[in-house]
Amino acid sequence: MLIKKPSDVKSSEITPENVYRKRREFMKETAALALGGSLFGGALNALAQNGDALKGRAPEALSLAAPAPWWEQKFAEVSPAPDQEPYFTGETLTPYPDVTRYNNFYEFGMDKSDPSSRSEAFQTDPWSVEISGEVAKPGTYNLEDLLGPMQLEERVYRLRCVEAWSMVIPWIGFPLVDLIKRFEPNSKAKFVEFETLVDPDTMPGVNSRFAIVDWPYREGLRIDEATHPLAFIAVGLYGSYLPAQNGAPMRLVVPWKYGFKSIKSIVRINFRETMPNTTWNDLQSNEYGFYANVNPEVHHPRWRQDMERRLPQTLFSRQYIETRQFNGYADQVASLYSGMDLAVHY
Ligand code: MTE
Repeated sequence: MLIKKPSDVKSSEITPENVYRKRREFMKETAALALGGSLFGGALNALAQNGDALKGRAPEALSLAAPAPWWEQKFAEVSPAPDQEPYFTGETLTPYPDVTRYNNFYEFGMDKSDPSSRSEAFQTDPWSVEISGEVAKPGTYNLEDLLGPMQLEERVYRLRCVEAWSMVIPWIGFPLVDLIKRFEPNSKAKFVEFETLVDPDTMPGVNSRFAIVDWPYREGLRIDEATHPLAFIAVGLYGSYLPAQNGAPMRLVVPWKYGFKSIKSIVRINFRETMPNTTWNDLQSNEYGFYANVNPEVHHPRWRQDMERRLPQTLFSRQYIETRQFNGYADQVASLYSGMDLAVHY
């Protein structure tokens, strides 16, 4: 994976925390009044009310249109993150502009700004996900059938990229296990494989001559990892709908693993007996393992992994912090790997 100097994030784009908080308060008070009569007034009203309890709530997010009318109702019923680890970190949230403009989504291009600046044509309605393999209920499910029964909740997780930058993001979604059990996997389902949409018409990075990925982007988890309560499917962030650049309409979030495992814009989930091929492992297996657990003791061949650059940053101030084993989620997930040599299974 390439490390780039993030010159694409202008310091003027970064909202200082105090300004963000003031604006957040202001928006909470005014959003319902000012926007109540607009086209998306219902959803925004609900979001404004829910925002009182949600940990993350950005005024910029209010301008996002609901992907489809039924989403408005789902977002009116989001349960706020509890005030404790592991579902809330207590750390300063990475501001909305950084979360949504400093992205890796190679289907739109390789620069951090490409996913936000080149995704206007991307469509999430209609959207369907193929469920296949070792399950009792395979099929092609449309998004409403898939997400309709799920109770949405907020979770504030750390995201640690293998490139050694990190963020703290208030996601909205549901535990992956709650989705998985609906398809009734059988005893041969030892791994879960995920694939991203490939649509050259709306994803300009796909046919780029600089593209290095053999599309579709693929990721995978062992079934015990996929059914761990921390593994999450995100459909929103910062109190609102997931922007295209963050993996709309649904993406994986596995907070104890490097960010490349958290595959975006999922169109296929396949249950299988053998370990699947995964994009970065196929591209450079000595640099990117299948497990990709955040591990400050196992360095990337080209850079160290014991420190990380926490976003936001300005041109003049960069914040470096120590990287923690399993990204700070060791108490919850270390037992998944007992007896394994993590330097071998990196
Ligand atoms: N999923 C797809 N389909 N394509 C990608 O290029 N990049 C991964 C991951 N999921 C990627 C992807 C990487 S390297 C990271 S660090 C995270 O998405 C970044 O998520 P974010 O942009 O929402 O912060």
